[in-house]
Amino acid sequence: MSIHIGGLNLGIPAVLAPMADTSDLPFRLVNRSCGCPLAFTEMINARSLSYGGKKVLKLLDTCPQDSPLGVQLLGREPEYIRKAVDVLNESGRYELLDLNAACPVRKVIRRGEGAALAKDIKLLGELVKVMVKHSQTPVSVKLRAGWDADNRNVCDAALAVQDAGAVCVFIHGRTCSQQYHGDVDYELIGAAKRRLSIPVFVSGNVFSAELAQDIIKKTACDGVVVARGSFGNPWIFSQIKALFSGEVLVEHRPDRAALVAMVRRHFDMLTDYDPRTGHVRFRKVFSWYIRYLPGARHFRDKIFRSRSQSEMAGLIDDFAGECA
Ligand SMILES: Cc1cc2nc3c(=O)[nH]c(=O)nc-3n(C[C@H](O)[C@H](O)[C@H](O)COP(=O)(O)O)c2cc1C
Repeated sequence: MSIHIGGLNLGIPAVLAPMADTSDLPFRLVNRSCGCPLAFTEMINARSLSYGGKKVLKLLDTCPQDSPLGVQLLGREPEYIRKAVDVLNESGRYELLDLNAACPVRKVIRRGEGAALAKDIKLLGELVKVMVKHSQTPVSVKLRAGWDADNRNVCDAALAVQDAGAVCVFIHGRTCSQQYHGDVDYELIGAAKRRLSIPVFVSGNVFSAELAQDIIKKTACDGVVVARGSFGNPWIFSQIKALFSGEVLVEHRPDRAALVAMVRRHFDMLTDYDPRTGHVRFRKVFSWYIRYLPGARHFRDKIFRSRSQSEMAGLIDDFAGECA
């Protein structure tokens, strides 16, 4: 199967979403181990990146197995976007540069960034032009359906970024005011696809391989963006691959041994990557993996009470024992 973004050949019609406080290097590698063909960093504030602070540069951590990688920028000031692109050009360790025009968080939209860019399509186009002009890699944009129910202007926004030189758009089919709840407007994304010549990827409620297939069928889009559907379920990528290769899916969840092995692997990677607070960050990760199992709530309480790496390792052993 040939699915391209810029010069990248993905092989399957699915990418891993940029997600704040989630899309770290271990998370991306775990998903890649199940066949994810393209992953993104979480959104990175362009102004902070242009100052080059240690904390923000950490978000660019990557490795040879973490490729191809998309880096997502957040901002609205052309001069800081330009400076951030300069920093990225020097790092040279990514293949796609994305602009966040989708984040609905209040402190972000108050600054006129993220999803608020839907209210200023001219500026949105200008920012993309700056990125296209200075970036060494192709540029994409993540958009929302619009600002609110009365302003679903994603078709115009997508046309503006296409005219400005973007090679792909990722569209979350909810408005900014919907945040992460309520219906996803797949019809609107389908309408945007019909008006664009660049690839369009759909974001919103991609919780299984079958849903991915339905969404692609109903929108005629090029692929999907997997976000919350990857939580504790990196296998969604191998299932998408199987489904699009014509296989019939039988098992939805991995067997217990595979689940335990993935939990251990994710824990080891996260604590190696972040020895100081990796075990704390693992609390939410562990709870994703067990959420469909009987007794999950009780076990989850223990996970969130654990205070050290060794205590967390002990809980993983208990979990493995219960699964044996
Ligand atoms: C925890 C979390 C963090 C997110 N952070 C970002 C982000 O940094 N940049 C972005 O473009 N979208 C971000 N999103 C939005 C997702 O990329 C995706 O568009 C959205 O969750 C809808 O997909 P879903 O319904 O399949 O989860 C985030 C979503 C979640 C759940």
